[in-house]
Amino acid sequence: MPVTLVVGAQWGDEGKGRIVDFLAMGASAVARYGGGANAGHTVQVGEKTYKLRLVPSGIVAGVEACIIGPGTVISPSIVLGELDALAGAGVDVSRVWISDLAHLILPYHVALDRAWEQARGGASIGTTGNGIGPAYMDRVARVGIRAGDLADSRRWQQAVRDRCAAIRAHGVDVDANAIVAELEAQCPRLMPHVRDTIGLVHEFLRAGKRVLAEGAQGTMLDVGLGTYPYVTSSVTIAGGGESGLGYGPSHVEHVVGVTKSYATRVGNGPFPSELHDAAGTALQKRGREFGVVTGRARRCGWLDLAALRYAVAVNGITHLAMTKLDVLDEFDEVGVCSRYAGGDPAASLPFAIEAGAKPVMTMLRGWRAATSAARSWNDLPREAQAFIAHVEAETATPVSYISVGPERSQIIVRPGAPLAQAAMAR
Ligand code: IMP
Repeated sequence: MPVTLVVGAQWGDEGKGRIVDFLAMGASAVARYGGGANAGHTVQVGEKTYKLRLVPSGIVAGVEACIIGPGTVISPSIVLGELDALAGAGVDVSRVWISDLAHLILPYHVALDRAWEQARGGASIGTTGNGIGPAYMDRVARVGIRAGDLADSRRWQQAVRDRCAAIRAHGVDVDANAIVAELEAQCPRLMPHVRDTIGLVHEFLRAGKRVLAEGAQGTMLDVGLGTYPYVTSSVTIAGGGESGLGYGPSHVEHVVGVTKSYATRVGNGPFPSELHDAAGTALQKRGREFGVVTGRARRCGWLDLAALRYAVAVNGITHLAMTKLDVLDEFDEVGVCSRYAGGDPAASLPFAIEAGAKPVMTMLRGWRAATSAARSWNDLPREAQAFIAHVEAETATPVSYISVGPERSQIIVRPGAPLAQAAMAR
């Protein structure tokens, strides 16, 4: 069972990138299973900071293959720009493989995304404006264009023209000639990276080599199980790894759920533990909570244990990774939402939230001490240990990794943490 899967346990932006970067040092391949350039991962190694949107975070750790899987939607211009930037920073990008089954995001998807958001007015979702929803819509409507389709230029050009004509008929202005010309120019650089990645993943699995499946966004943004319609358009939960990469559930050994020590949400939609007071502002400032992709300020709140228990359940999370513990260092008290009150107790979590369930908060003692230099559990203040122990007890899941700063070295690893020995040995 050589798959270790990393999934966002909140509303995205949990810091999956740096956990993947760390675990990738104990893996042979890293494979991203969903989403597109709406995701933004920051990986900091020494003096260098890498900002990634499509290329899996494992690229920096130097794995044998970095796979952008069949469940993703890719924008040729963004992926090529990212490959150029990585190559410019001295990273070997010849190991980046794009699935031939991944769907393309073309300029008309971006135009549609923006037009629909505008039409929604006050009820807008607050999308990242990257064309994600329209690209997934084309996929399920069976009018999408896959990366592998680019091998047949007559066919894809006709498909682009047909799609543009249909979109123009709906009043959105798109220029088929310009899109065809741009994509044609991009093909020679894109195609060497396009291949069957399902076979590649299974080569690693057959050899008993470790594959790290990398999720994008978070559980509460899942198109089916999240706070619909304020969600992204892909399957973000652990199950998305199977359809998004092409392995079966029996291949998965560990599911690492990444959560911040507090909660954030970007874009619109319900967020029960959101803070509108000085504590919320302090979290935003100390946590530098501004989007990697959009630059938007993230909404901040205390850690929502009700939502985290839901994430543990629907993903089958076996281990938690808690990021940004140090952001809580200066609080006298640290809150958690223990449960929701009101509404229908039998309702599924998304409907309970939609019905306005109120968070019941528990305040724990803060530690008012710097944790960023801690390198082991014993280095953490007693109150910080108590906070983590509370999360473990409330979710019945071990917190196996704790990050106390942006550097690779600032991850505390606890006994039994998957891949940690191999990662640290590298
Ligand atoms: P879309 O994925 O661009 O369609 O945006 C849909 C919703 O998901 C919006 O609320 C976005 O802010 C949110 N979203 C998409 N990607 C991310 C991410 O990587 N982190 C956090 N929120 C995201």
